[in-house]
Amino acid sequence: MKLLRNFRKKIRKLAFRLSGGTHFKQKHYFAPWLAQARPNAMSDHLNTLFWHVMEASPDYIVELGTRGGDSTRVLLEAADKLDIKVLSIDINDCGEIDVPHRERWEFVQSDDVGFGEQGFPRWCEGNGLSQQAKFIYIDTSHLYEHTCKEIAVWSKHLADGGVMVFHDTNMRKVYGRLDGSAGFGWDNQRGVIRALEEFLGRSYDQNTFFTDIAGGYLVRHYPNCSGMTVLKKMGSK
Ligand SMILES: C[S@@+](CC[C@H](N)C(=O)[O-])C[C@H]1O[C@@H](n2cnc3c(N)ncnc32)[C@H](O)[C@@H]1O
Repeated sequence: MKLLRNFRKKIRKLAFRLSGGTHFKQKHYFAPWLAQARPNAMSDHLNTLFWHVMEASPDYIVELGTRGGDSTRVLLEAADKLDIKVLSIDINDCGEIDVPHRERWEFVQSDDVGFGEQGFPRWCEGNGLSQQAKFIYIDTSHLYEHTCKEIAVWSKHLADGGVMVFHDTNMRKVYGRLDGSAGFGWDNQRGVIRALEEFLGRSYDQNTFFTDIAGGYLVRHYPNCSGMTVLKKMGSK
């Protein structure tokens, strides 16, 4: 009897593995056209990013680092649903990339740290918006020193209850996606996660899923697909 039970368990495990096992694909019901996007280091995070923006329900979105616009397109889908604007900053000119809901998009070519110090307060004033942002997405150099500067400048612009999302908090030469596929990256010497550790006064294993409360923030980390870490400013109640 016990032998038969064990045999059945083994068969069930085998069937589970053969039907995909622990590999999970992504579907984007909020924007089905995203299925055509080529797999890259953002693939696992498109749903996650959309969810975190919608949940934060900001009155505008700030994106630091645009390049080909994988994150920009998701942020603009969310912006359209929330009836708000996306402000994207990149040191290179990305103003001509193909994005949906272009009327909701403003692109500024600038160093993001310099813009955070000077241009951003002026941009908010000009648009009649608060300088306390409720959603900031950061995906730029991935270098430790630059990320430290970004955090120092942009965390001051984050509203109580606001959310700051960092991509590439688990960068490596080969990274894995939840569907079992792999992509190529580079080793940034833990640049982004190290800057976050310093900011939060913590030490993290970036290869694990984790949540934490540290330095006045609620922290959620996704290790897959080059890593993404979400910080929600808890603020004073
Ligand atoms: C990884 S790409 C961004 C990818 C984009 N978020 C996406 O999902 O397609 C990084 C971008 O950061 C920009 N960048 C690097 N250093 C920067 C800086 N100091 N200020 C602003 N942008 C910067 C680069 O020009 C590049 O376009």
